[in-house]
Amino acid sequence: MGKSEQIAVGVIGTGGMGGMHAENLHTRVANARLAAVSDVDAERAGKIAEQYGSAAVFTDGAELIRDENVEAVVVASPDATHAPLVLECLKAEKPVLCEKPLADSAEAALEVVEAEAKLGRKLVQVGFMRRYDPQHVAVKEAVESGAVGAPVVFKGWHRNADLDPGIDSEWVVINATIHDIDSARWFIEEEIEEVYVRGMNTAPKFGEDVWDVQLIQFSTTGGRMGSIETNVVAGYGYEVGVEVVGESGVVRSAPPAGAVVRRDYAASQRIENGWLDRFHTAYVIEIQRWISSLQNGGPTGPDAWDGYASLVVADACIASLRSRSPQKVARLDVPALYGEGVEVAR
Ligand code: NAI
Repeated sequence: MGKSEQIAVGVIGTGGMGGMHAENLHTRVANARLAAVSDVDAERAGKIAEQYGSAAVFTDGAELIRDENVEAVVVASPDATHAPLVLECLKAEKPVLCEKPLADSAEAALEVVEAEAKLGRKLVQVGFMRRYDPQHVAVKEAVESGAVGAPVVFKGWHRNADLDPGIDSEWVVINATIHDIDSARWFIEEEIEEVYVRGMNTAPKFGEDVWDVQLIQFSTTGGRMGSIETNVVAGYGYEVGVEVVGESGVVRSAPPAGAVVRRDYAASQRIENGWLDRFHTAYVIEIQRWISSLQNGGPTGPDAWDGYASLVVADACIASLRSRSPQKVARLDVPALYGEGVEVAR
């Protein structure tokens, strides 16, 4: 793909995330155009196509992938569809930005890793957009500068204001905490070796055995430690933050930029209401960098290995929450295509 060409992108799944990516491709991203959309709900796909240019509409994602007018693909359909669609992209040798999680199980993600390793070149990027969030990047840069010494402890918190019923404890791990698992690996640059998940039910609407608040403690291959708090019904807003305790200091994410309003004898700052709002900038940077990388040799963001490794940790978390005991994370052999595995260029 030449540097000046507009890359023709097809988006599969036109719900909350796919609609947002389609809008960004059409209105905010240089050198790309929305060429096709696909959804099992043809009416929804048609509306997005009409709203953001004149994209072709497909009801079958695999057909979109195979269409000769589509050069690159964004997968934003439900989790269980990710691995089959990404495998289809590998078959067609087209780059794909796949929303997290890479698959609905570690086994399915491994199939993607093996297919890509066999192909011998990276075509898959996973939508761990926090790696592009300015607050997270600032923490990463401070840690990498060596200002606080080597990382010793990672702390992450991930709170939703509220979610609809229909989720279970495993969903919280695979769908929400998966982001924090990726953050921990990215910041500490070591694999997670052992996890211990504790949880509580604070919202009977999910069912009494569902842990809507979970606290994960973990250790890494180099003996570093961490904790992740995931709370899907925090009530007060949507908040994600990280802290890295180093050997000689601490780096903590600043709240997203916003004004502090002083009135009525109080100072207040707005808190976002969800991911689309909190990570708006990160999603734009993510897809813009992805497009630029495709014009310069291939994707540089979180790869299929990161997608797989995060799901292997998620598996151990699920085993821990079921057994109520600490669990070892399976040790993995990294295919040469993925270098050291845990460290990824931005
Ligand atoms: P959504 O429910 O709003 O949209 C999903 C869309 O996919 C719907 O329009 C549905 O009709 C369509 N669909 C269902 N089966 C399909 C198929 N086989 N082929 C094509 N389209 C199909 O869901 P949302 O929130 O947009 O999530 C989509 C994906 O994005 C999920 O995998 C989710 O985990 C991920 N996600 C990522 C976030 C991030 O921060 N990176 C945040 C929220 C979701």
